[in-house]
Amino acid sequence: MCNALLKTKSEHFFCSFAIHQTRIVMLTRIKELQQEIEEIAAKSLEEAEELRIKYLSKKGEISKLFEEFRNVSADHKKEIGQAVNTLKEFAVGKINMLKEGLTEQKSSGSGVDLTLPGEPMKLGTRHPISIVRNEILDIFKRLGFVVSEGPEIEDDWHVFSALNFPEDHPARDMQDTFFIQRNPDVLLRTHTSSVQVHDMETQKPPIRTVSPGRVFRNEAISYRAHCMFHQIEGLYIDENVSFADLKQTLLYYARELFGGNAEIRMRPSYFPFTEPSAEVDVSCTICGGKGCNVCKYTGWLEILGCGMVDPNVLEASGIDSKKYTGYAFGMGIERIAMLKFGVNDLRLYFENDIRFLQQFESAN
Ligand code: PHE
Repeated sequence: MCNALLKTKSEHFFCSFAIHQTRIVMLTRIKELQQEIEEIAAKSLEEAEELRIKYLSKKGEISKLFEEFRNVSADHKKEIGQAVNTLKEFAVGKINMLKEGLTEQKSSGSGVDLTLPGEPMKLGTRHPISIVRNEILDIFKRLGFVVSEGPEIEDDWHVFSALNFPEDHPARDMQDTFFIQRNPDVLLRTHTSSVQVHDMETQKPPIRTVSPGRVFRNEAISYRAHCMFHQIEGLYIDENVSFADLKQTLLYYARELFGGNAEIRMRPSYFPFTEPSAEVDVSCTICGGKGCNVCKYTGWLEILGCGMVDPNVLEASGIDSKKYTGYAFGMGIERIAMLKFGVNDLRLYFENDIRFLQQFESAN
């Protein structure tokens, strides 16, 4: 032991030599252990525990350093003390890390195979009616039409009276619908033409709208008719709108929807709210006009009704029929979807059979 009471020079020399020796020995040992611990690895929790005992237990390597620390002179206590503490912290951290890693492995190893592929995400599908509705609306939007919508539960005025159906006129039978018994003025709209009336009442020309929506009819349900289906109504009112504008617009529409070779023809028809009125056929999408069982060997398929808005209709909604003219057209979306997809029974669209709907999986 070195002690201040030692007097002789040589005694003093040996003493300070010993002090320096202790410091160097300890620093060297600390360095060795640091390197050793950096490299330790364990394959099991048991192995990690053995390492803890080797370095950190009461008789472990680091505890030995603490014992040795008593022999460090006061001058070096700070330096050596810090170094031993740092080493201890490092060893504790490293061994804990090894243990944690092994515990995680152990729990994830309990029957869970992390390499298995995940559950596939089910891709939703749009309903075929929505796909076709969006496609039709997009075509008209490109021509400057805006989409407008109206209520399904309507009053007599918007569905019939404002559209030039006089009360008790037989034309109402063609579009018979569902009424509320207690108040026959409340009814389910039988066509989207009612949205036209709302638009004309609330907007000033020029008006250029397309109105999609659900409509209801008092019809027996069959492969080609239903009591509920979907329509898109088109309306254009401005100065000098002519039948030629209507025809050109519908030709463009048919070609966008059915391909550049599609042709249309117009047959005279009757609707109370248009004059003149026409039914529009498109050249058969299946046989290209040659004749097949889909077009019943006529080469043509009916796709919509149209005409020039009757002046009475314009006036009923407060539009000056001397200044403005307009055209309107209306089509059933189910019918167009049947032609586009080759579906031969309209009821399939409402039965929600997943096997049917899955065929329309699409990114649309
Ligand atoms: N509303 C008519 C129907 O439901 C279709 C139509 C609309 C005809 C606009 C002409 C003009 O049958």
